[in-house]
Amino acid sequence: MCKFSKYIKYLQGIDRTIPMVNPKPSCRPTISYRPIQPSDLEILEQIHADLFPIRYEAEFFQNVVNGHDIVSWAAVDRSRPNGQSDELIGFVTARIVLAKESEIGDVLSYEPSKSDQTLIYILTLGVVESFRNLGIASALIREVIKYASSIPTCRGIYLHVISYNNAAIHLYKKMSFMCVRRLQGFYLINGQHYDSYLFVYYVNGGRSPCSPLELVTGT
Ligand SMILES: CC(C)(COP(=O)(O)OP(=O)(O)OC[C@H]1O[C@@H](n2cnc3c(N)ncnc32)[C@H](O)[C@@H]1OP(=O)(O)O)[C@@H](O)C(=O)NCCC(=O)NCCS
Repeated sequence: MCKFSKYIKYLQGIDRTIPMVNPKPSCRPTISYRPIQPSDLEILEQIHADLFPIRYEAEFFQNVVNGHDIVSWAAVDRSRPNGQSDELIGFVTARIVLAKESEIGDVLSYEPSKSDQTLIYILTLGVVESFRNLGIASALIREVIKYASSIPTCRGIYLHVISYNNAAIHLYKKMSFMCVRRLQGFYLINGQHYDSYLFVYYVNGGRSPCSPLELVTGT
């Protein structure tokens, strides 16, 4: 759940009402993955409203569906009936940032001379409730890892997660993301501060400035 102020409209209470989007998977869902497209706009907005305590600007959704500065993947259940077989049941959105302009420069070892080095920042990730624990978010993260690895300048993927989100924290650890920082009071939701964890997954030789060996040897 990103906190890019550019995209955030307001923060709401975390006591969520019953989600509006809660389609039932068929006995054997056939999940497939594709880019998010303009026809996904309405359902994308609805699922974000259902899943997150943060309200995103209309500009954010426009940028997602039109692929402006944002890369995205949708999960759909091809086995759903009644024209729903292409309807979003999960998504991940991310953007490319310059490593030198990111907030994680200190946990990334890179050559300052190579100013074109980049990172992928995961903005939002979600799966509608009835489709959870089927490995859909894991598959979406794998898509991001594959994409990041295919960009020669990319050194890693990073994201923030609110400190009480055990399902997401479990997921990122399972996917071998490293928790590099706890940020006190990072989120302000309904007048209350919540900490966040910062997770990083290194690709293409990206690494933290000190490897375990360097810490031991002091080199
Ligand atoms: C976090 C989220 C994306 C996971 O989606 P998903 O498709 O269910 O994820 P997966 O099926 O790939 O993996 C879920 C893992 O979390 C585990 N899990 C589920 N609920 C859990 C909980 N409350 N505490 C700890 N682990 C939990 C599952 O057992 C599974 O792990 P396993 O494969 O080791 O058994 C989904 O719960 C969600 O959309 N939550 C609301 C939005 C959100 O929090 N997004 C992340 C913002 S940073």
